[in-house]
Amino acid sequence: MSFFDGIPVAPPIEVFHKNKLYLEETAPVKVNLTIGAYRTEEGLPWVLPVVHDTEVEIANDTTLNHEYLPVLGHEGFRKAATELVLGEDSPAIKEGRSFGVQCLSGTGALRAGAEFLAHVCNMKTVYVSNPTWGNHKLVFKKAGFSEVRDYTFWDYDNKRVHIEKLLSDLENAPEKSVIILHGCAHNPTGMDPTQDQWKLIAEVIKRKNLFTFFDIAYQGFASGDPAADAWAIRYFVEQGMEMVVSQSFAKNFGLYNERVGNLTVVVNNPAVIAGFQSQMSLVIRANWSNPPAHGARIVHKVLTTPARREHWHQAIQTMSSRIKEMRAALLGHLKQLSTPGTWDHITQQIGMFSYTGLTSAQVDHLIAHHKVFLLSDGRINICGLNTKNVEYVAKAIDETVRA
Ligand code: LMR
Repeated sequence: MSFFDGIPVAPPIEVFHKNKLYLEETAPVKVNLTIGAYRTEEGLPWVLPVVHDTEVEIANDTTLNHEYLPVLGHEGFRKAATELVLGEDSPAIKEGRSFGVQCLSGTGALRAGAEFLAHVCNMKTVYVSNPTWGNHKLVFKKAGFSEVRDYTFWDYDNKRVHIEKLLSDLENAPEKSVIILHGCAHNPTGMDPTQDQWKLIAEVIKRKNLFTFFDIAYQGFASGDPAADAWAIRYFVEQGMEMVVSQSFAKNFGLYNERVGNLTVVVNNPAVIAGFQSQMSLVIRANWSNPPAHGARIVHKVLTTPARREHWHQAIQTMSSRIKEMRAALLGHLKQLSTPGTWDHITQQIGMFSYTGLTSAQVDHLIAHHKVFLLSDGRINICGLNTKNVEYVAKAIDETVRA
């Protein structure tokens, strides 16, 4: 007899499971288009040069130590992260209506934000886009949201944002529902609303008294321009809307396993900040007590030193332009092969992912017959492509859709 008798085995977390299957695959030719991590043209992980140099400086800085950070995190990092997403001249910053809370990457920021909204603000209904990142529903459920619902995002037939249905779903959401919006480079579709569509979304959320929770995991990584990628968030702030924003520095700094994130908070009345921060301190204290310093120090130094920041811009441009080249190459090969179906969405989408439209049966076929690994909803990580394997992948897709 054990306290743990009868615990059912949970299904594997697909993105990590598929990555593991790829690593275990012994076939000589195989391609990994699963987990969202950047790869170089050589198919290798990339430590950004500016991150490496900054790490060396930090290691040699004898004024630093491993004492605890404050519960809400590294102050310089929180300020720099908040300015990065809202813009230094944001009205919310100028009017003292915003602040950051250092969290364990984007997931930690989502979790802290969700727990705060559920337990301190008594918000219990959340809407996530359909489809969305595999972790959103789980985080909100575990954080205390009793109702986790979908709003339509994707038009599967026309491979575009289904703006009409999206707006009507929001229109029908009960007051005080939390609406999760992907700030840029929507995961998994890679398709963002246009600026005009964002304006319509903001209008409904504001009029219906819904609460905005932005998740921005790809700022700067998507287009190469951090301001352009934060356009929607800044527009919502200009409309006078309150919000929380989970920020991840996994992709745009390549700091995946350092768990560097921030929850940016924008309120209408600065007088509520003292209460907010004190309650948030208890949420953090009960989770990780206080955050790790290493990644936050790196991001802070890079964002606040002009020369380093310039090197970072170069790095995000290197990453985003390689991705654009691979999108064009994949589309080019599919067109050359006259692969049945429409594929223009591959270059219309941005960021790390393409939502190919391949069915789960076609995904199984690609893995079994071609050792091209991707998620069962047809999402591919474009970063897994390079000039040496893109034609192979296009031919594999071509054979699969004709099979
Ligand atoms: C992904 O979507 O592949 C990444 O964000 C990794 C993850 O944690 O799911």
